[in-house]
Amino acid sequence: MANPVILTGLRANNDLTIGNYFGGILPIVDMANTRSSEFQINMFIPDLHSFTTPIDYSTLYENIIANASLFNAAGLPLDNPNIYLYRQSFIPAHSELTWILDCFTGFGQMERMTQFKDKSSGQADVSVGLFNYPILMAADILLYGAAYVPVGDDQTQHLEFTRDIAERMNSRFGELFVVPEPVKKQHEFFGKEQGLRIMDLQNPAKKMSKSDESGKGVLFLSDNPDVAAKKIMSATTDDKANVVFDRANQPGISNLLEILALLRSASIVDTAKEFEGETRYGDFKKIVADEVKRFLTDFQHKLKNVDEAAVVKKLESSEKVMNIQANRTLQAVQRAVGLRK
Ligand code: TYM
Repeated sequence: MANPVILTGLRANNDLTIGNYFGGILPIVDMANTRSSEFQINMFIPDLHSFTTPIDYSTLYENIIANASLFNAAGLPLDNPNIYLYRQSFIPAHSELTWILDCFTGFGQMERMTQFKDKSSGQADVSVGLFNYPILMAADILLYGAAYVPVGDDQTQHLEFTRDIAERMNSRFGELFVVPEPVKKQHEFFGKEQGLRIMDLQNPAKKMSKSDESGKGVLFLSDNPDVAAKKIMSATTDDKANVVFDRANQPGISNLLEILALLRSASIVDTAKEFEGETRYGDFKKIVADEVKRFLTDFQHKLKNVDEAAVVKKLESSEKVMNIQANRTLQAVQRAVGLRK
């Protein structure tokens, strides 16, 4: 029997953030390095998803290759045959399955997607692609029968939608799709208590996001390490003079504790314990800032040394195998809905 699949994707629009790194990249890279003998690891670039929000088309191709290189710098091995690195648009089955799933999805269900509501509100031009985006994401997951999909908290609803459409199609047409594990089980599998949501440093009530305009509250993986350290030093905190993990009452301090814990691969409980009784935010921030600086310096050094030609080779060889796997699922669906004998 084929190994179960762990799969994730990150869009290549702008610079990736430390939120993308911890929410999307690190969990799958960890799995790739520790469990690739039991699992097939799929890491891909959802390049068709790039068009759902405004982008610079002239740099998209370079951004895609840069993202693939970045995954390698983050520790994704290129020489392991159980690990696949690929571009969504190089596997036409993604688009074809999306259309079929579109036609089995109710408009009302899609209208309830909170990310669509957030991203479309107040915008003059909202594309059908933005609306349709979770269905393409479901196709990305279902084509390969992925059981585990590490994503940040903002993608949880899309994962639930994927489970929902898979179950609906299965009950109508027989066992067509592997239904991804429920979100709670996913968290257990990746050793987390809940979905990860790194918050904006300036406004800890909102998610750290690459589309943020000022960039002051966002740590980009490409930030100059000294600039990133300054962003930590000027992060919004509170007037309680107490370093404790309490998201509701001290969201800024809690966010910094979470970032520090992630950078050290330590638990939040242990990290918070270390600062028990600490009243000077400046001292605490300096420790976080130094850790961020060390992380970015090291990461950027690794990125500089990535062999881009080897990355492109890995993309091309993975895409050959992924086309075969994806087409197998697509054809089963085509048969089920009456398009093929
Ligand atoms: P994208 O490209 O917006 O984000 C990539 C990953 O980063 C996570 N993330 C965060 N995690 C924690 N804290 C944050 N502040 C934060 N910001 C972003 C996201 O949750 C995500 O895991 N639709 C997806 C891409 C996609 C995909 C897929 C993912 C397309 N098809 C199939 C998994 C499986 C997206 O736009 O993520």
